[in-house]
Amino acid sequence: MLASGIIVIILIFGIYLIKQSSKTNPEKILNVYAQKGKWYSLKYCFMVSLLFLRRLKCYIYGKNHVYKIEILDRLQQLSYHDQAFDAVFFHAVSQNGIYFCGGTERRQKGKIVGLVYIVHPDYGVLESEELPDTNLDASVISLYKQDRYSGGGICITPLKPMKKWKITYKGLMKQHLNPHNRFRVDLDLDWTSDYQWFFFEVDVPISVIARAIAREEWSPKLFQNLKDAHQKHYEQMGYVNGTLQIDAVSFPFVNVDAFRDHSFGFKRDWSLMHRYIYSMFYLTDKTKIALGVVSQPCTTSHLEMGFVNHVNGKLDPIDNIDLFLPEHAENGVLPKVLNFTFDAQGVSYDVRMEFLYDTVHYKGSDREAVMNERFHKCIINGVPGRGISEWHYNKNILGVDDEKI
Ligand SMILES: *[C@@H]1O[C@H](CO)[C@@H](O)[C@H](O)[C@H]1NC(C)=O
Ligand SMILES: *[C@@H]1O[C@H](CO)[C@@H](O)[C@H](O)[C@H]1NC(C)=O
Repeated sequence: MLASGIIVIILIFGIYLIKQSSKTNPEKILNVYAQKGKWYSLKYCFMVSLLFLRRLKCYIYGKNHVYKIEILDRLQQLSYHDQAFDAVFFHAVSQNGIYFCGGTERRQKGKIVGLVYIVHPDYGVLESEELPDTNLDASVISLYKQDRYSGGGICITPLKPMKKWKITYKGLMKQHLNPHNRFRVDLDLDWTSDYQWFFFEVDVPISVIARAIAREEWSPKLFQNLKDAHQKHYEQMGYVNGTLQIDAVSFPFVNVDAFRDHSFGFKRDWSLMHRYIYSMFYLTDKTKIALGVVSQPCTTSHLEMGFVNHVNGKLDPIDNIDLFLPEHAENGVLPKVLNFTFDAQGVSYDVRMEFLYDTVHYKGSDREAVMNERFHKCIINGVPGRGISEWHYNKNILGVDDEKI
């Protein structure tokens, strides 16, 4: 009985293999975006098992025990690689239309990558003075004390792991639409959170990562690239309190919706990244959402990721985002509105975004990364909100040379 059962299974599997091997693999879309090939189902099952085993320890003991938050949520030792990095990034968005985003990325040789944007309905977009360039010197004190991310006027200090950070900015900012107009800006914010943190390598559903890797053409090189390009990345929603002063006018921030992330790893090479759209949403009912679709063809040419943070603290990982990059502004012409849907834990979300302000800055030693920072208004399943969206393009897509941009 058992033997004949096994024979039937082997036979079915054999027929499947013969049937599949006669098929041809579909071409990549635009030579970039891999499509499901003939061995997709097998590759998918293999990846699901592999990822499950890798995560088993976290499932049993919890990620807070496997990864010590005191070690993660602070400055990291930079690797010896030229492109070693340790980056933090923050948002604060109020429903009356004030937006802040800014971050600092520690790099080798006393350099940082830093930027600050503030949007206020009375002033439009204000940007830190060096923008659109972001390569800056680290502040001397941050090199000496190794307890803060700082340079170019911004200073970001971890105070309590996964609970509290401090953000200050002091300096001149220029008006995006009229760069001759300068304002003296003094920002002083406490970022706090009781929310869970979302750790990419543990919290993105296995099915999502398995799908992305199974779509690619497998080779030893792919797995080497996945290993080399691996970075630790986590995100957390929260609130800020503090003040924003623009020249002599002071604006209080009280319980303003906020976000942050922290990424670090062996190297960050912007020339490998093809494109991404990464967006955060802060809704008036206090639901907070972060999601992105990312194309880094040497590892995964189409990867979805994100989560919904409900007001009661419940965090739902996103299972599927119906936003396929080649169908949206692959040529770099940014649309003024964007509609799409996504699913998280059995709930479907219908997203409408309207972009109010657009800016651009560059990252990489040779401006390899062109980042459009887009400040939006949104409606998700009927609930209004606001947020910030970053549209990255590799400079090769836009076909612009450095002189023109
Ligand atoms: C922020 O400030 C408000 C008003 O002073 C206060 O009620 C609230 O508890 C503060 N939030 C945090 C997280 O400190
Ligand atoms: C997005 O949705 C809005 C509201 O339904 C609609 O008016 C608009 O035409 C849609 N835009 C696109 C580009 O589909």
